[in-house]
Amino acid sequence: MRTLIRWALGAAALASGIGVMATEAAAQVEATVAIDTEQPGPVIEPAVYAQFAEHLGKGIYDGVWVGPDSPIPNTQGFRNDVVEALRRLEVPAVRWPGGCFADSYDWRDGIGPRDQRPAHPNFFWGGVEDNAFGTHEFMDFVELIGSEAYLAGNMGSMEPRSMGQWVEYITGTADSTLTQQRRANGRERPWRVKYFGVGNETWGCGGNMTAETSAAMHSRYQTFIKAGPENGPLIRVASGSQGDDVNFTEVLMRDAGKHLDAISLHYYTIRHNWDKKGSATDFDEAGWTASIAKARQMDDYLVQHIAAMDRHDREKRVALYVDEWGNWFDGEPGAPALYQQNTLLDAITAASTLNIFHRHTDRVKLTAIAQMVNVLQAMILTDGPRMVLTPTYHVFDLYRPFQGAVPYPVGIASPSFKAGEFSVPVIDATAARGKDGKLWLALVNADPRRSAEVAVGLGRSATGRVLTADRINSHNTFDNPNAVAPRPYSARAGRDGLTLEVPARSVVVVSID
Ligand code: AHR
Repeated sequence: MRTLIRWALGAAALASGIGVMATEAAAQVEATVAIDTEQPGPVIEPAVYAQFAEHLGKGIYDGVWVGPDSPIPNTQGFRNDVVEALRRLEVPAVRWPGGCFADSYDWRDGIGPRDQRPAHPNFFWGGVEDNAFGTHEFMDFVELIGSEAYLAGNMGSMEPRSMGQWVEYITGTADSTLTQQRRANGRERPWRVKYFGVGNETWGCGGNMTAETSAAMHSRYQTFIKAGPENGPLIRVASGSQGDDVNFTEVLMRDAGKHLDAISLHYYTIRHNWDKKGSATDFDEAGWTASIAKARQMDDYLVQHIAAMDRHDREKRVALYVDEWGNWFDGEPGAPALYQQNTLLDAITAASTLNIFHRHTDRVKLTAIAQMVNVLQAMILTDGPRMVLTPTYHVFDLYRPFQGAVPYPVGIASPSFKAGEFSVPVIDATAARGKDGKLWLALVNADPRRSAEVAVGLGRSATGRVLTADRINSHNTFDNPNAVAPRPYSARAGRDGLTLEVPARSVVVVSID
């Protein structure tokens, strides 16, 4: 007897969902996933689900901050709708203020009365930065959404003493001039800073350094970062490599590894090349497959960078933080810098990438998707008073049970889908024991047309949610915000055990009983 599948669909979802299921009934693939619950891995740190917010385009202004006098409903200047959406995601940490922006930023411009703060050109991204959103606003925002601060310090154009003074200003308790200044500016108690990034992309916008120079700079700068006595451990993160540049990681670990708590890695998924990245919404099955295949190259890059780290740090003391990742498409004409739509494809690549991170929890302790609101592969898009949650947001929502969970190895047997020059396995999966004690399984079906029957090999029933839509480029708009939204999903085992029907182009996350 086949597994009994029960789709609990709302009326609206039923209308769009039936067509999808009906046309897919004819073609289906079979796959198996085998979860090895005897081999638990290192915990999936909640910080693997961190966010990145840069002063760029509408990332901060309009996206997070509208100011206390705005007609858009806000709390002390922070948009209520965005704050509420982020609180739901249980965002573990937010990296700020860049990105490239960080290495041109002087934190002293962003404190004190807002109407007296200096305005400067935004050196990397254009426009004028009036510093209305500065240190107090960021730290208050992080508290408001229940998150942790990951500050990105300016190593490219600031002296180490000034960088260290930022941490003193925020976390200090002594009766120093800087803590007095903080109190005079309205904050009596110190804030807590959990992560401090030393520089950003030192091989590029952070100063065009060689790996050797970067290592020497990190050894010097990190010396002067010290948090106040009530802060708890402050994790110092060296700006690291990108993509497949393993030598940069190797040199950083060799020359500066003993001084570092973590090093970063950046990898963006570019469908074609930097000059022609491709459209976020206008692509065919070849484009869909290219993006998924390139996103999944993250696995190979992690293997290589972790091997380099292992050569210099067998105890795995230094963590690897993938603090910029995601799809980077061509911007839309007339749109703010790096603003792009977000489709079902982004959901598939986000879920695939999170699955990869779950396989490398021995080193990967934090990651930050780029970026949180209105920039690149965003969680949230805003337009004046309107807000829309993207398919990527819904993946992060579906994957919440994996924060702090204990991952299990998963053996996957799946056919592949080929279009254009790339081929990808249809089914990808991750499994973990959640903090709630439940066994959680996430399945990604990367096939644009065929559903998959996935034999799980354990359990009697599965309950959770599915994210799919009727087209590969389906996306949410301000006028149609729920074109791609999760729906309830459940299945019960038949005589042959538990088999889940995973719709074409979908992400399914279930707990298994
Ligand atoms: O996220 C956009 C930019 O990409 C960041 O500012 C930079 O670090 C990276 O190159």
